[in-house]
Amino acid sequence: MTATALIVVAAGSGTRLGRGVPKAFATVAGAPVLEHALRGLAGVDARIVVVAPAGGEAEARAIAARAGVEADVVAGGATRADSVAAGLEAAEGAEHVLVHDAARALAPRALVERVLAALRAGAGAVVPVLPVVDTIRAAEGEALGAIVDRAALRAMQTPQGFEAALLRRAYAAAGEGRAASTDDAQLVQALGEPVVAVPGDELAFKITTPADADRAAMLLGPATRVGIGVDVHAFGGDGPLRVAGLEWEGQGLAGHSDGDVVCHAIVDALLGAAGLGDIGGLVGVDDPQHAGARGETFVRLAVERLAEHGWRPQSVSVQVLGVRPRIGARRDEAQAVLAAMVGAPVSVSGTTTDGLGALGRGEGLQAIATALVARA
Ligand code: CTP
Ligand code: MG
Repeated sequence: MTATALIVVAAGSGTRLGRGVPKAFATVAGAPVLEHALRGLAGVDARIVVVAPAGGEAEARAIAARAGVEADVVAGGATRADSVAAGLEAAEGAEHVLVHDAARALAPRALVERVLAALRAGAGAVVPVLPVVDTIRAAEGEALGAIVDRAALRAMQTPQGFEAALLRRAYAAAGEGRAASTDDAQLVQALGEPVVAVPGDELAFKITTPADADRAAMLLGPATRVGIGVDVHAFGGDGPLRVAGLEWEGQGLAGHSDGDVVCHAIVDALLGAAGLGDIGGLVGVDDPQHAGARGETFVRLAVERLAEHGWRPQSVSVQVLGVRPRIGARRDEAQAVLAAMVGAPVSVSGTTTDGLGALGRGEGLQAIATALVARA
């Protein structure tokens, strides 16, 4: 087996995506574009070199670790070609090199293997291509010119594969002229060397515009999820009665924190919806630091945890079961306070249990919440 390096160029600024962060670090379907790209490459028989935005090396390393991929990380340059050149330097010693755009984050393993197979069968340069499906015309400004026969056209994708020595020679020959190149095979072709085409894959589309990011998110999984959370506390605390983020008349609820069953149920519903466990994993419920802590503190922590994982609350509904307090009397106030914590509409309702059980006897209070969350 020959040594292969897989250079993942991820140093672009993502101007057309317009997120205000480098495209590789932009969140799509709950994870950075680079993370999706690296997950798709896990298991490829190659040493991975990630070319990160200068200053973003540590972030790229953390993303690679999350993706479960061992990668060398180097800083990229001002143009894509500069970034590939930086990757090539780091890929010293490799016999074959694959160059892949991190922005083609959904490229399937089978495509990578197809390129590798052609390379190992003896090709010096391999590029995955797709036919062009739209009608294509030449244009000068707004004016449309001649139809270009699309049957004679192919769209270039990545990963592109090369004998390392050939690609190095192509880069050396191109000199400063490399800045204008948008892929690597064209520099090899400029040497007069043959480039072999293999079938590309629709999934290897380049995330370039916001619409591309939406398409990627749709392909990567559901855009919304629901969760449920339940909490119960007995009356008997020393403190005031705190329910739904409000203070009420009467004896408080027992508990290590303020016992606000509504907030606690909301926390579990939010975390559950995002697949992030429950309130115990969020704060360590017996942590002395949280003795008497307000329910609000936990809700805000949960919302932050969701954001870290690319989720945001869409709506929450919560029902309180018990004989007191009378939720209906302060429903609007409770809903406003909770909505401010969650950052989305919260509806609150109350019901009794018709005198049945501990709740019916007024020994405690239960809350049941559901949450809808969406990918950020
Ligand atoms: N790239 C790079 N270094 C650059 C420019 C681009 O490593 N100086 C990488 C990008 O990170 C991307 C791939 O080359 O994975 C294809 O580039 P493109 O889609 O143009 O990405 P950006 O340059 O980030 O986007 P834009 O052109 O919209 O700013
Ligand atoms: Mg670009």
